[in-house]
Amino acid sequence: MKHLLSLESMSRDDMESIFRSAAAFKRARTTHARPLAGRTWALLFSKSSTRTRVSFEVGIRELGGQVIFLNASEIQLGRGEPIKDTARVLGRMLHGVVIRTFAQRDVAEFAEFSGIPTINALTDDEHPCQILTDIFTYQEKRGPIQGKVVTFVGDGACNVAQSWIFAAAKLGFELRIAAPKEFQPSSEVLIRASAHGTGSRRPVIICTDDIDAAVSGADLIYTDVWVSMGKEAEAAERLQKLRGFQINQALLKPAKPDALVMHCLPAYRGKEIDEATFEAHAPTIFDQAENRLHVQKAILSWAVD
Ligand code: CP
Ligand code: NVA
Repeated sequence: MKHLLSLESMSRDDMESIFRSAAAFKRARTTHARPLAGRTWALLFSKSSTRTRVSFEVGIRELGGQVIFLNASEIQLGRGEPIKDTARVLGRMLHGVVIRTFAQRDVAEFAEFSGIPTINALTDDEHPCQILTDIFTYQEKRGPIQGKVVTFVGDGACNVAQSWIFAAAKLGFELRIAAPKEFQPSSEVLIRASAHGTGSRRPVIICTDDIDAAVSGADLIYTDVWVSMGKEAEAAERLQKLRGFQINQALLKPAKPDALVMHCLPAYRGKEIDEATFEAHAPTIFDQAENRLHVQKAILSWAVD
């Protein structure tokens, strides 16, 4: 039984096989195999979504499966039915589940009790499908990410940054996190990541509040929203404290001349990125969004293989 619960728990070999399969799914959008034929998957979401929901719904259908969307607040889970009971019921009816929720342990518990493939579509800790897609997109445009420098600017303690940390540890590229001290990743996460050196190499993960140094010579500059879902009560404080950590034209000057800029979306112009920079890099950013479909089809077919 295969689950995608986190990048922390995914092997480098599995990541690389998903990248190869995603390229094949992208090349043959309508003519590929239908490994989900005769199967019904559900999306069980407790948080908003545009890209993840649509790309999984379309992807499941294109792989031959049926899909149902379950808003967590509209099923008994929202009225307090335990995850492990919900999982045991859904596991007897469905063939797989894609979950977007708050606590990472809820996804793990669902996987344990449902007995069906379970895919993390974002928790407070990780967003593995997003970062697999981002790396696929980088490699599509610039070749292998190994040995490159990726700079994440903004809320370095968020789910997206945390999945970047485990990806860097597994795949062997340098990751710099540029964030104010209180928005840097926890030392506990960095210690966990350092256990995943590639061969004799120790992961190179640098956390700093020197944003210019972090961008210098970078191959990819990346950002995410300053106020993640679930953090709305801290919005005013976050906007004030993260104000100096915006991706804009001036910031990009010391990066490599052909550096890519990526954003997982949704984007808030004037906050984590300015309008001119966003629009200058929109072709890359919307390729990233489209690639969610191809990479997630690869993840689904990996999960049922
Ligand atoms: N990037 C991303 O996961 O977008 P959604 O929240 O719209 O799914
Ligand atoms: N860090 C963001 C990602 C949105 C796709 C959030 O959790 O809201």
